[in-house]
Amino acid sequence: MSALNVLDAPAVDPSLDLEAEINRLRKEQNAVILAHYYQEGEIQDLADFLGDSLQLSRAARDTDADVIVFCGVHFMAETAKILNPDKIVVLPDLNAGCSLADSCPAPALARFKELHPDHAVVSYINCSAAVKAESDLICTSSNARRVIDSIPADQPILFAPDRNLGAWLQEQTGREMLLWQGTCVVHETFSERKLIKLLADHPGAKVIAHPECEDVILRHAHHIGSTSSLLTFATDDDADTFIVATESGILHQMRKASPDKTFLPLPPEAGCACNDCPYMKLNTMEKLYLCLRDLEPRIELDEELRLAALAPIDRMLDL
Ligand code: 13P
Ligand code: SF4
Repeated sequence: MSALNVLDAPAVDPSLDLEAEINRLRKEQNAVILAHYYQEGEIQDLADFLGDSLQLSRAARDTDADVIVFCGVHFMAETAKILNPDKIVVLPDLNAGCSLADSCPAPALARFKELHPDHAVVSYINCSAAVKAESDLICTSSNARRVIDSIPADQPILFAPDRNLGAWLQEQTGREMLLWQGTCVVHETFSERKLIKLLADHPGAKVIAHPECEDVILRHAHHIGSTSSLLTFATDDDADTFIVATESGILHQMRKASPDKTFLPLPPEAGCACNDCPYMKLNTMEKLYLCLRDLEPRIELDEELRLAALAPIDRMLDL
């Protein structure tokens, strides 16, 4: 268990074999465990399905299990409920939020839209159901370019909430967009100074980066993409050393897929553990066990809001 979540650890009998209990309960409850790459390695290892935001959304939509246990953050579990409302959807820790989602309250986005009524609103999936309901299209980091390219060239676009992903998309697609000024607390902290030092110390290393990073980091990258895209690149590429500019959880799968390669997490500017997402890491084996046992905490959504949020997600999935 990381230092980030040791203080709020729930009371679970320490003699319990948590892995065995989780395996027993997932059968009893007919549950599927979906996990994002930023979860702790032990959670990744017992997930039924591991993926990036888009892959997890599809898995949640397509499952025939009765219960979806979402080991990720709130907007991901909420998206699962939007896509598959008849299932019980539980999140091990309901406080597992996201700084990007927090940066963009729906009433503020609605006011911004009023100032720019001719703009189509494209929102990154890292936002609340209420923000999705205000949007014309949703995208994830793996399909964002395709989503922007699908919009007629003369249609002005308002992109929310990630200004770094938005700036990268402007460069990739050549489209001017109005950008909401949200950032990811993990990806905005990486240090260019330390990146340059790492490159000098490891000549031949390749830099792989998530598009939530700032431009100063992205301009050094040999490959930019979603978590699953970074994993595929690191697995298939010939280089033996990679400097990884994203959340540290992904290193678990990179090292498993390529045990002979070296993966160096890019440090933040401050000497902290900031490339651990403080929200993702709220989920623990203990909380996973408890939510499978109690089927709580659940994601519940007002039906009118769910349908309004579903429309732009469906448009994305149809592309
Ligand atoms: P992806 O896994 O879709 O690249 O998303 C990264 C992320 O920040 C999730 O919070
Ligand atoms: Fe949100 Fe960043 Fe954490 Fe992803 S890594 S959940 S974008 S705060």
